[in-house]
Amino acid sequence: EAAQKGGYDHYMRKEIHEQPSALRQALGSRVDVNAGTASLDVDFPQGYLESIQEIQLLAMGTSYYAGRYAATLFESLADVRATPIMASEYSYTGGRDPWRTLSIAVTQSGETADTLGALREASAAGARTMGVTNTLGSSVTREADDALFIRAGPEIGVAATKTFASQVSTLALLAIAVGRERGALSAAAAREHLEDLTGLPGAIQQVLDEEDRIRETAHELADSDAFFFVGREYGYPVALEGALKLKEISYDHAEGFASGELKHGPLALVTPETPVLAVLTDGAHPQETLNNVAEVQARGAPAIGVTSGTLEGGTLDEAFEVPDAGIFEPLVANVYFQLFAYHIANAKGRSIDKPRNLAKSVTVE
Ligand code: G6P
Repeated sequence: EAAQKGGYDHYMRKEIHEQPSALRQALGSRVDVNAGTASLDVDFPQGYLESIQEIQLLAMGTSYYAGRYAATLFESLADVRATPIMASEYSYTGGRDPWRTLSIAVTQSGETADTLGALREASAAGARTMGVTNTLGSSVTREADDALFIRAGPEIGVAATKTFASQVSTLALLAIAVGRERGALSAAAAREHLEDLTGLPGAIQQVLDEEDRIRETAHELADSDAFFFVGREYGYPVALEGALKLKEISYDHAEGFASGELKHGPLALVTPETPVLAVLTDGAHPQETLNNVAEVQARGAPAIGVTSGTLEGGTLDEAFEVPDAGIFEPLVANVYFQLFAYHIANAKGRSIDKPRNLAKSVTVE
């Protein structure tokens, strides 16, 4: 087993460090930056992409947060309504036109019962379906009309890490392809986003190189009462994912909020013992979020921010930078959150790869 961990103490840390290579696999042969195109081996019927009115992202756990990130990508790059739906709640939603809906099940394992259940319902109602998965031959690939592989390589740690980055990036390629097909995205804009995407392996490597510093911060804050993560737009799903990661493996209380939501309730929980971690990069409206962060600092909470390095006003207690990656900067910021969660859990001696009560793949509803 030690050999399989490739010199790392835990699969999770190994998988965090595998993100640059996983993304090269997901993107490499599919992207032609100069042409502004992404080829995905999915043959939609002629005219289908122009006809769709809604894209649904059906998923659970980390995959659901990847679906939330992707929903915003579809809305902004392809100008199509996109709705992330917690798959276990799918049965209780209505008012849709399935004939003009593309329902995408986002599932690393391809076996999550809640997600497969939602996919079956969508299909029965007449939607075209697609599985976005890491697992060749999984149930989702057999049941969906189309399959799109995220090519992340095996992920053993129960807490998903590299697959989140690969899900978002692969769905970004789809959003770009759909945006081009629907005439919503210019060739120049497509090129810019593809350049940002192909730069992700290098950008994430720079974050990984900062591991010592994030470990120190994690150790300083390890005994806090609770941890709050905040962000806007693309920073919001990353705040939710950052909190999920921390609670899964450290068993500490952690919650993610839209930064604008803080003053509508969560602020009552803020004390000097509740650090707030904020996504303050491009793609996450850093200046607005910084105002929200000032409110928690006024209550004595330590503020840790991940920035693009261009913030004006406001002083963070600790700042971490990400390289330029446009609207994918929050995805890069997420790597700091993964390392933060890992080092808090490790300092507490938790069972990182197999947290109590959790399973890698949940095959019951
Ligand atoms: C479980 C795992 C999570 C995962 C979720 C969805 O809860 O512990 O890490 O995000 O299932 O899994 P999937 O395979 O559908 O992506």
